[in-house]
Amino acid sequence: MEPGAADSNGSPVFRTRRLTKTYRQGEVKIHALRGVDLDLYAGELVVMLGASGSGKSTLLNILGGLDVPSSGEVRYRDIELSAAGDRELTQYRREHVGFVFQFYNLIPSLTARENVAAVTEIASNPMSPEDALALVGLTARIDHFPAQLSGGEQQRVAIARAIAKRPEVLLCDEPTGALDSATGVLVLEALDKANRETGTTTVIITHNASIAGMADRVITLSDGNISGERRNKQRQDPRTLSW
Ligand SMILES: Nc1ncnc2c1ncn2[C@@H]1O[C@H](COP(=O)(O)OP(=O)(O)OP(=O)(O)O)[C@@H](O)[C@H]1O
Ligand SMILES: [Mg+2]
Repeated sequence: MEPGAADSNGSPVFRTRRLTKTYRQGEVKIHALRGVDLDLYAGELVVMLGASGSGKSTLLNILGGLDVPSSGEVRYRDIELSAAGDRELTQYRREHVGFVFQFYNLIPSLTARENVAAVTEIASNPMSPEDALALVGLTARIDHFPAQLSGGEQQRVAIARAIAKRPEVLLCDEPTGALDSATGVLVLEALDKANRETGTTTVIITHNASIAGMADRVITLSDGNISGERRNKQRQDPRTLSW
């Protein structure tokens, strides 16, 4: 398949049907997801937009096997995540999913290279830490500790760590949430490049509608439902984005 080209004719990588998630807080029920039907395709880069509380993180966490739905189906290829137990979900995450969060969670006592190596040492077919860090433009910072790196550089180490095991899916929850626009763009460039060069199906959650231009497809959540879906004719180069 062409790098970055969404294979929307093939079978989806993820398929959710009537997916719901209800949290209970005492007497109160919070309907975080109210029946989400969503297909995600191999290699596509999807930006997920929506107001605070609309259910974005809940949906991403269920796709990533970090949480389970209250009802409905979620399937990753032929793994029925909605029927999987803890052990199966742990194995699924380990083999198939890379995560990037707003805060980088790097190990402070390890260099950039060692932070990435901590993951590649236990993966079955990893990139070298050097290659993963080169992909995010950090070759010159490879022996630096997190405290010696800027926020954007630390986030790019976190991306290198997430992609080094060559996951089929990369799930990013507000990856630029703690960064200014110029630094955030470097992080988005790294995600764009990783998606194009490794073909990993990528979901980026953001509050920030101006990021949507870099996506193949944009999905909007409102109050636990998908309220909008559009496909961009062309992916905008992240370097041309600002907010
Ligand atoms: N563990 C939890 N217990 C109770 N309610 C929760 C829990 N996690 C999320 N919620 C509620 O579910 C709804 C959806 O939350 P979610 O975190 O998915 O939203 P979000 O779109 O990611 O918001 P944000 O943009 O602020 O991160 C919110 O009303 C939230 O308060
Ligand atoms: Mg969230």
